[in-house]
Amino acid sequence: IPVSPFDMVIFGGTGDLAMRKILPALYYREKDHQMPDEGRIIGISRAVLDHDAYVAQALEAIEREVNPDHFDAETWQSFQSRLHFFTLDALGDDGWQPLIDLLSEHPDRVRAFYLSTPPKLFGPISHNLHKKNLITPSSRVVVEKPIGHDLSSAQRINEEIGSFFEENQIFRIDHYLGKETVQNLMALRFANSLFEPLLNHQWVDHVQISVAESIGIGGRGDYYDSSGALRDMVQNHILQLLCIVAMEPPVEFNADAVRDEKLKVLRALRHIGANEVREKTVRGRYTRGAIDGESVVGYLEEKGVPADSMTETFVALKAEVENWRWAGVPFYLRTGKRMPERRSEIVIQFRQPPHLIFPKNANQVMANRLAIRLQPREGIRMYLMTKVPGPGGMRMRQVPLNLSFAEAFKDRFPLGYERLLMDVLRGNATLFMRRDEVETAWRWVEPILRGWEDMHEHPKSYNAGNWGPTAAIAMIERDGRTWYEEGY
Ligand code: BG6
Repeated sequence: IPVSPFDMVIFGGTGDLAMRKILPALYYREKDHQMPDEGRIIGISRAVLDHDAYVAQALEAIEREVNPDHFDAETWQSFQSRLHFFTLDALGDDGWQPLIDLLSEHPDRVRAFYLSTPPKLFGPISHNLHKKNLITPSSRVVVEKPIGHDLSSAQRINEEIGSFFEENQIFRIDHYLGKETVQNLMALRFANSLFEPLLNHQWVDHVQISVAESIGIGGRGDYYDSSGALRDMVQNHILQLLCIVAMEPPVEFNADAVRDEKLKVLRALRHIGANEVREKTVRGRYTRGAIDGESVVGYLEEKGVPADSMTETFVALKAEVENWRWAGVPFYLRTGKRMPERRSEIVIQFRQPPHLIFPKNANQVMANRLAIRLQPREGIRMYLMTKVPGPGGMRMRQVPLNLSFAEAFKDRFPLGYERLLMDVLRGNATLFMRRDEVETAWRWVEPILRGWEDMHEHPKSYNAGNWGPTAAIAMIERDGRTWYEEGY
């Protein structure tokens, strides 16, 4: 679908997100000839810079972030001609005129205000945009997580933005929804008839969703310590993945149909009460260790982390979706920093065949398993039982049927932000979070946070370079199951 002429205004235009993600993604879209000739990108920041210095900063970022094979002078020339920059304190009343003048050249164009700023500024900036009469019917606003720290702060932020923009003008990014493999999960479920009849309590034993990262918290100590793994990863990315695995088929692939179905899953999540947090959740925190042979410091030694921090860098949870389809099927979720490698995966473990006809010594028949690898080495593996070749009777072994996306498609895998930014410009909110989704997710997370507060215990230690604390293994083993770390 073509993109109409647009003005994209990026508040926080010199910040980390703009330089690392937004501008490189827009550059790639330029390279793929998806940018309309009349599309302008307007950086806004309090930094005192002139236009040339902004362009130079953008060039440096794009050269750093974009694969050298994809960088070329011609694309850069057309891209840089779109760039504008204004120094402006978006919280103040003065200094808006240059932006107003530029935008008023094309009052009917799609206007996207990207608030690449801390969430506490979402409301005040939206208010100023309103006061300056910059919000037109074809305007939209883009915001990122964290949307709130808990339910009431999320409601407050949503309320503030919602006083100036209609819900269908608000694009809340969860960048996991922009990932190719996450969209592929919907293709797998709803463009094939093979799996859908099996994805329910009758055939599925349990589901695992693991998002492991080998990185630590980098320079983000201040933010991370006030957040922790549950707020940073589970409230948003992991619950979104859970929704896509568990939701009913939407009637159409459009914003309301998809989000209505995801919302139903979030509403069906069984709340984990304060008396259950010990049984159904595990919090961990990395200590000194090694990643790829390099020694790394523990969380408490990271910059910006107070010595008495109680924040978790790992969490494992047993979630349950209480509806007809999924009754009794646990969804084990886990995510952590400083794990042995970066690996995000969804594993659907099917049940054992109802009756085994082969002799007991035919090696153990292992139940089927579908593993969807989100990153890296994106692909799908279906583990099947097969007979080992040879005359020695019905000996069985489990082998995978393997679909590697890199081998099946030689094309470049676009960055998540490329798809999402183009969807903002097209006005398609299917892959964005609606207000009720964000708030319902907080409703589920909040009792867990409260339960942890009541426990008032430090997270359990795990050495950097491990798959989390042993308590996480014990949690799933109590149910007679085990975590999969698919080796490919
Ligand atoms: C962000 C979190 O939302 O997602 C980070 O704040 C995390 O802590 C990141 O590292 C992971 O994203 P990705 O795309 O690298 O899996």
